[in-house]
Formats: sequence, structure tokens, C-alpha cells
Amino acid sequence: MNHLSFSLTLVCLAGCALPTETSTVQTWNEPVERRFVLENGNGVRAVFSNLGATLVSLEVPGPDGPVDLVLGFDDESGYRGQDNQYFGCTVGRVANRIGGASFSLDGMTYTLEANDGENTLHGGTSGYHADLWAVEHGLGDRIRFTYSSPHGQGGYPGGVLLSVEYRLTEANALELRYEGRTDAVTVLNPTHHSYFNLAGAGAPTVLDHVLQIHANEVTEAGPGLIPTGALAAVEGTPLDFRTKQALGRRIAALDGTAAKGYDHNYVLAPHGLQDVVARLEHPASGRWLEVRTDQPGLQLYSGNFLFGQLGKGGRRYAHRSAVCLEAQGFPDSPNQPTFPSIRLEPGEVYTQFTSYTVGW
Ligand code: GAL
Repeated sequence: MNHLSFSLTLVCLAGCALPTETSTVQTWNEPVERRFVLENGNGVRAVFSNLGATLVSLEVPGPDGPVDLVLGFDDESGYRGQDNQYFGCTVGRVANRIGGASFSLDGMTYTLEANDGENTLHGGTSGYHADLWAVEHGLGDRIRFTYSSPHGQGGYPGGVLLSVEYRLTEANALELRYEGRTDAVTVLNPTHHSYFNLAGAGAPTVLDHVLQIHANEVTEAGPGLIPTGALAAVEGTPLDFRTKQALGRRIAALDGTAAKGYDHNYVLAPHGLQDVVARLEHPASGRWLEVRTDQPGLQLYSGNFLFGQLGKGGRRYAHRSAVCLEAQGFPDSPNQPTFPSIRLEPGEVYTQFTSYTVGW
């Protein structure tokens, strides 16, 4: 039995909710990259890949035809190539940075892959975002990806079984529901890593977009963007998006910083599942995006490391031509006792809900 069929068996044994339309459900766990489509009645079309449980494109109707709002590549080689900076993928086991590429849990120290200077970024170079996931499709407006991460992968303890279900609603929301289980105590903090440009992927900048984030603080970061453990008020700084602000209005003040632009974890104000935690608008087209989540943090990343790589349809992705709004736990949580815990124990079920609603 290979790794992935093992995953699916476990999903059912573990008692996950079975879809009602079981007769149409199909599974895909061949070791081949494949694309899957969800469409709604309003002309929203989302394409996914089983490689990294990735959102490949998100099209909405535009005046001259469909407009694709997320960066990506035409084919698998692009996603497996050097130019892929986590475009649209599911990041795991722990999104964002872990300082010193190590952490301790119950008296044991775990050494991770240092892939961002001396720190770990997005779980390391292999794993969740770079592997093929099993797929359940034919679920109507939903598609579910499942990944079985073995004990020791990336240096993390415990085998983890993680699923992410994408649902495209008639209200134009792309809803993401995660479920994770482990067979030994570990840490789990996945996120979704789409790069948005509401002018259309490949448009030259995102600095003309207007953003609002309902957060009064960010986690203060030191060298290597590793949190100091303190929270810093956004008031009076270029990080203040409590009222709508153009992304480009104050970004130059961040040019010389370690973040090289916006690359900050916002401490979201107390919120419920129906509350919009962030809203992005593109005034020139009228398109907008709203984020809802049950997570405590939102990483705002303004594409500072994009360098003009060639993406879908031969378009180039320039410096700061997209923005990521990544819902997650706080960076470096395993080493920060005052941050919300991302610990997961056997018998517990990790869940996350995040949604991206588009409008035009
Ligand atoms: C973001 C992170 C950035 C950068 C990017 C990938 O999530 O905040 O610092 O690493 O991923 O290039």
C-alpha cells in the first residue's frame, strides 16, 4: 500500500464526515500531477493541482473575458522549478519562520532544515507544498486533498495526516477547511499561499491596491524576521491598515528594513467566522477580495522577493506585483511561549477555516 492510499483509508477510518453524494465521489492518488476545476454559476472558476494542494488559478468575469487573480505556472515543471515561491500552495507542517531551525517539545529538541539563512521557512524545501496529495473530487462544489506526512519529515516529530477541502460557493467565496491528526505530539500550522493581483496575475504592480486589516498590532520581528516575542502597535507606523490605505502609499519607508516591504504577521483583533479580517480592493477595476478566518494571525507579504519570473501565459511576475494574505498561527510559535500554541496531540483534531471571497 503506498503512502497516499494509506492516507485515504485513514481519513475514512478516522470518521471524517462522508460526503452525502458518495456515488459521484472519485479519488485520485496516482503519482502524477493533475488539475481539477470548481466553477460556480456566476462565472468564478478555480483550478487546483494535487501538487501541493495548490490553487493554480482563480478566474472572475471581467469586461474583456475572465481575469485570473492569482499567480502560478502553466505546468508542473514551473511548480517544481526554482522560480516557484510557494505560489498558491498549501504550506506545512509549520508555515512562516522557526528561529534557529529548531524547537523543543516536552523536553526533546528537534532540528529542522535551515532553508532561510539559519532559520526554517514554510516547513523546509520538501514536503507538503512540494509533494502530490491524494484527491477526492466529484463532491459537487468541493474538492478535498489529503497528505500523509511521515514522522521525521523536515525534522518534525509524529506522523501527520492533513486534509484541506476547498469549496466554491454561489456567494463567490472560496472556503478552505483543514483537518489534521497526529500519532505523536507535534506542531501543526498550515496556511494557504496564494499571491493575489486583482488587476490580473501578471499586472505590473499591486501597490495601487487598497487594503484594510483589522489588527492593532503585529508580532515584532528581529533579525531574520524572527519574532522577539513582543507585540508592536501599528498606530503611527506604515503598518497601520486599520483604515483603508493604498499598499504603495507608505511602503518606501520599509525598503531598507529586514522585511524589504510588507512582510509582517498581524495580530488579528478578536473576530468571529463571519467577520472580515482583511479586505483588498483594486479601485481601477472595482474588484475586491475579503478574508475571513478563525486563525489568530495574518501574514501580509507584498511580493518583495518576486523578481520577474515567467508565469502563466508568458506573463512576468514583477517585484511587488502580488500580495499574500496568509491566515495562520504566529511565526516561530514553537519557540514563543506567549504566542497561541500550535501543539497537536494524538486524539486531537486540528481544524482551520479560512475563506477568500471575491467581488467585482
Ligand atoms: C512569505 C514570507 C516571505 C517569503 C515568501 C516566499 O510567506 O512571508 O518572507 O519567504 O513567503 O518567497
